[in-house]
Amino acid sequence: METARSLTENLKKRRINKNEMRVEFDAVSENESFARVAVAAFVTPLNPTLEEIADIKTAVSEAVTNAIIHGYDREELIQEEKEAKVVMHCKLSEDVLSVEITDEGRGIDNIEQAMEPLFTTKPEMDRSGMGFAFMEAFMDDLEVISQPGVGTTVLMKKKLGTMSWIRQEE
Ligand SMILES: Nc1ncnc2c1ncn2[C@@H]1O[C@H](COP(=O)(O)OP(=O)(O)OP(=O)(O)O)[C@@H](O)[C@H]1O
Ligand SMILES: [Mg+2]
Repeated sequence: METARSLTENLKKRRINKNEMRVEFDAVSENESFARVAVAAFVTPLNPTLEEIADIKTAVSEAVTNAIIHGYDREELIQEEKEAKVVMHCKLSEDVLSVEITDEGRGIDNIEQAMEPLFTTKPEMDRSGMGFAFMEAFMDDLEVISQPGVGTTVLMKKKLGTMSWIRQEE
Protein backbone atom coordinates (compact mmCIF):
# COMPACT_ATOMS: atom_id res chain seq x y z
CA MET A 1 0.00 0.00 0.00
CA GLU A 2 1.19 3.47 -0.83
CA THR A 3 1.83 5.55 2.26
CA ALA A 4 0.97 9.25 2.31
CA ARG A 5 4.68 10.06 2.31
CA SER A 6 5.55 7.94 -0.71
CA LEU A 7 2.47 9.26 -2.52
CA THR A 8 3.62 12.85 -1.99
CA GLU A 9 7.11 11.92 -3.10
CA ASN A 10 5.85 10.22 -6.22
CA LEU A 11 3.71 13.24 -7.07
CA LYS A 12 6.67 15.52 -6.50
CA LYS A 13 8.83 13.44 -8.85
CA ARG A 14 6.14 13.34 -11.49
CA ARG A 15 5.86 17.10 -11.41
CA ILE A 16 9.59 17.63 -11.56
CA ASN A 17 10.65 15.21 -14.27
CA LYS A 18 8.40 16.66 -16.94
CA ASN A 19 8.80 20.05 -18.51
CA GLU A 20 7.81 21.77 -21.72
CA MET A 21 8.41 25.04 -23.53
CA ARG A 22 7.51 26.53 -26.88
CA VAL A 23 9.00 29.61 -28.52
CA GLU A 24 8.15 31.26 -31.81
CA PHE A 25 10.62 33.58 -33.48
CA ASP A 26 11.21 35.35 -36.79
CA ALA A 27 13.05 33.33 -39.43
CA VAL A 28 16.16 35.52 -39.37
CA SER A 29 19.71 34.30 -38.88
CA GLU A 30 20.15 36.27 -35.62
CA ASN A 31 17.73 33.80 -34.04
CA GLU A 32 19.94 30.75 -34.69
CA SER A 33 22.03 31.65 -31.66
CA PHE A 34 18.90 32.50 -29.67
CA ALA A 35 17.53 28.99 -30.31
CA ARG A 36 20.86 27.38 -29.29
CA VAL A 37 20.98 29.29 -26.02
CA ALA A 38 17.27 28.71 -25.28
CA VAL A 39 17.49 24.91 -25.64
CA ALA A 40 20.69 24.82 -23.58
CA ALA A 41 18.99 26.79 -20.79
CA PHE A 42 15.98 24.47 -20.95
CA VAL A 43 18.07 21.30 -20.33
CA THR A 44 20.32 22.86 -17.66
CA PRO A 45 18.27 21.56 -14.68
CA LEU A 46 19.10 18.01 -15.83
CA ASN A 47 22.81 18.71 -15.34
CA PRO A 48 23.79 17.60 -18.84
CA THR A 49 27.46 17.08 -19.66
CA LEU A 50 29.25 19.69 -21.77
CA GLU A 51 29.29 17.20 -24.62
CA GLU A 52 25.54 16.64 -24.40
CA ILE A 53 24.93 20.40 -24.42
CA ALA A 54 27.23 20.86 -27.43
CA ASP A 55 25.47 18.03 -29.34
CA ILE A 56 22.00 19.45 -28.65
CA LYS A 57 23.03 23.00 -29.56
CA THR A 58 24.59 21.86 -32.83
CA ALA A 59 21.56 19.77 -33.84
CA VAL A 60 19.11 22.56 -32.99
CA SER A 61 21.23 25.09 -34.80
CA GLU A 62 21.27 22.95 -37.97
CA ALA A 63 17.49 22.48 -37.93
CA VAL A 64 16.79 26.17 -37.26
CA THR A 65 19.26 27.28 -39.95
CA ASN A 66 17.53 24.96 -42.43
CA ALA A 67 14.12 26.42 -41.58
CA ILE A 68 15.45 29.94 -42.09
CA ILE A 69 17.49 29.49 -45.26
CA HIS A 70 15.68 26.67 -47.06
CA GLY A 71 12.14 26.96 -45.69
CA TYR A 72 11.55 30.57 -46.56
CA ASP A 73 12.31 32.48 -49.72
CA ARG A 74 13.16 36.03 -48.62
CA GLU A 75 12.22 37.74 -51.89
CA GLU A 76 8.90 35.92 -52.10
CA LEU A 77 8.11 36.93 -48.53
CA ILE A 78 8.85 40.59 -49.17
CA GLN A 79 6.77 40.57 -52.35
CA GLU A 80 3.82 38.86 -50.72
CA GLU A 81 4.26 40.69 -47.39
CA LYS A 82 4.16 37.34 -45.58
CA GLU A 83 5.60 36.61 -42.17
CA ALA A 84 8.21 33.90 -41.72
CA LYS A 85 8.23 32.24 -38.32
CA VAL A 86 9.98 29.28 -36.76
CA VAL A 87 8.58 27.42 -33.77
CA MET A 88 10.78 25.48 -31.38
CA HIS A 89 8.92 23.14 -29.07
CA CYS A 90 10.98 21.35 -26.40
CA LYS A 91 9.83 18.66 -24.03
CA LEU A 92 11.55 16.85 -21.23
CA SER A 93 10.18 13.57 -20.03
CA GLU A 94 12.33 11.79 -17.46
CA ASP A 95 15.78 11.95 -19.07
CA VAL A 96 14.65 12.29 -22.68
CA LEU A 97 14.69 15.62 -24.46
CA SER A 98 12.44 16.04 -27.51
CA VAL A 99 12.83 19.07 -29.75
CA GLU A 100 10.53 19.96 -32.62
CA ILE A 101 11.52 22.68 -35.08
CA THR A 102 8.71 23.76 -37.39
CA ASP A 103 8.47 26.18 -40.29
CA GLU A 104 5.57 26.95 -42.60
CA GLY A 105 7.79 27.33 -45.61
CA ARG A 106 8.24 25.64 -48.95
CA GLY A 107 8.54 22.08 -47.62
CA ILE A 108 10.76 19.27 -48.92
CA ASP A 109 9.91 17.34 -52.11
CA ASN A 110 12.02 14.27 -51.45
CA ILE A 111 12.80 13.80 -47.75
CA GLU A 112 14.93 10.68 -48.22
CA GLN A 113 17.16 12.43 -50.73
CA ALA A 114 17.35 15.61 -48.61
CA MET A 115 18.58 13.56 -45.65
CA GLU A 116 21.44 11.95 -47.58
CA PRO A 117 24.86 13.22 -46.49
CA LEU A 118 26.26 15.80 -48.94
CA PHE A 119 22.91 16.43 -50.63
CA THR A 120 22.17 20.15 -50.89
CA THR A 121 19.94 22.31 -53.06
CA LYS A 122 22.08 25.38 -52.31
CA PRO A 123 25.67 24.50 -53.30
CA GLU A 124 26.10 28.08 -54.55
CA MET A 125 25.63 29.32 -50.97
CA ASP A 126 28.55 27.21 -49.75
CA ARG A 127 26.23 24.68 -48.14
CA SER A 128 27.77 21.25 -47.70
CA GLY A 129 24.62 19.15 -47.29
CA MET A 130 25.66 17.87 -43.86
CA GLY A 131 22.94 19.39 -41.66
CA PHE A 132 20.71 16.32 -41.41
CA ALA A 133 23.77 14.05 -41.04
CA PHE A 134 24.88 16.11 -38.01
CA MET A 135 21.38 16.04 -36.48
CA GLU A 136 21.35 12.27 -36.91
CA ALA A 137 24.83 11.86 -35.43
CA PHE A 138 24.33 14.12 -32.42
CA MET A 139 20.83 13.05 -31.41
CA ASP A 140 19.38 9.58 -30.76
CA ASP A 141 16.37 9.92 -33.00
CA LEU A 142 15.53 12.08 -36.01
CA GLU A 143 12.27 12.30 -37.90
CA VAL A 144 11.40 14.70 -40.69
CA ILE A 145 7.81 15.45 -41.65
CA SER A 146 7.32 17.76 -44.60
CA GLN A 147 4.79 18.69 -47.24
CA PRO A 148 5.63 20.88 -50.22
CA GLY A 149 3.93 24.27 -49.88
CA VAL A 150 2.90 23.58 -46.28
CA GLY A 151 6.11 23.36 -44.27
CA THR A 152 8.53 21.16 -42.41
CA THR A 153 8.84 19.72 -38.91
CA VAL A 154 12.06 18.18 -37.66
CA LEU A 155 11.61 16.05 -34.57
CA MET A 156 14.72 15.08 -32.62
CA LYS A 157 15.16 13.13 -29.41
CA LYS A 158 18.09 12.65 -27.10
CA LYS A 159 18.42 10.62 -23.94
CA LEU A 160 20.52 12.39 -21.36
CA GLY A 161 22.82 10.30 -19.22
CA THR A 162 21.81 11.80 -15.92
CA MET A 163 18.80 11.82 -13.66
CA SER A 164 20.40 14.28 -11.25
CA TRP A 165 17.45 16.63 -10.81
CA ILE A 166 15.32 13.73 -9.64
CA ARG A 167 18.12 12.48 -7.39
CA GLN A 168 18.40 15.94 -5.85
CA GLU A 169 14.76 15.74 -4.81
CA GLU A 170 15.10 12.34 -3.14
N1 LIG B 1 13.18 23.34 -43.40
C1 LIG B 1 13.43 23.04 -44.69
N2 LIG B 1 12.62 23.49 -45.68
C2 LIG B 1 12.86 23.19 -46.98
N3 LIG B 1 13.91 22.45 -47.39
C3 LIG B 1 14.75 21.97 -46.46
C4 LIG B 1 14.56 22.23 -45.07
N4 LIG B 1 15.56 21.63 -44.38
C5 LIG B 1 16.32 21.02 -45.29
N5 LIG B 1 15.86 21.22 -46.55
C6 LIG B 1 16.43 20.65 -47.81
O1 LIG B 1 17.27 19.56 -47.46
C7 LIG B 1 18.59 19.75 -47.99
C8 LIG B 1 19.61 19.11 -47.07
O2 LIG B 1 19.68 19.78 -45.80
P1 LIG B 1 21.03 19.73 -44.97
O3 LIG B 1 20.86 20.56 -43.75
O4 LIG B 1 21.44 18.31 -44.79
O5 LIG B 1 22.09 20.40 -45.95
P2 LIG B 1 22.25 21.95 -46.33
O6 LIG B 1 21.43 22.81 -45.44
O7 LIG B 1 21.99 22.08 -47.79
O8 LIG B 1 23.81 22.19 -46.06
P3 LIG B 1 24.49 22.43 -44.60
O9 LIG B 1 23.46 22.11 -43.56
O10 LIG B 1 25.65 21.47 -44.57
O11 LIG B 1 24.90 23.85 -44.60
C9 LIG B 1 18.72 21.25 -48.16
O12 LIG B 1 19.69 21.60 -49.14
C10 LIG B 1 17.29 21.66 -48.57
O13 LIG B 1 17.08 21.42 -49.94
MG1 LIG C 1 21.48 22.60 -43.38
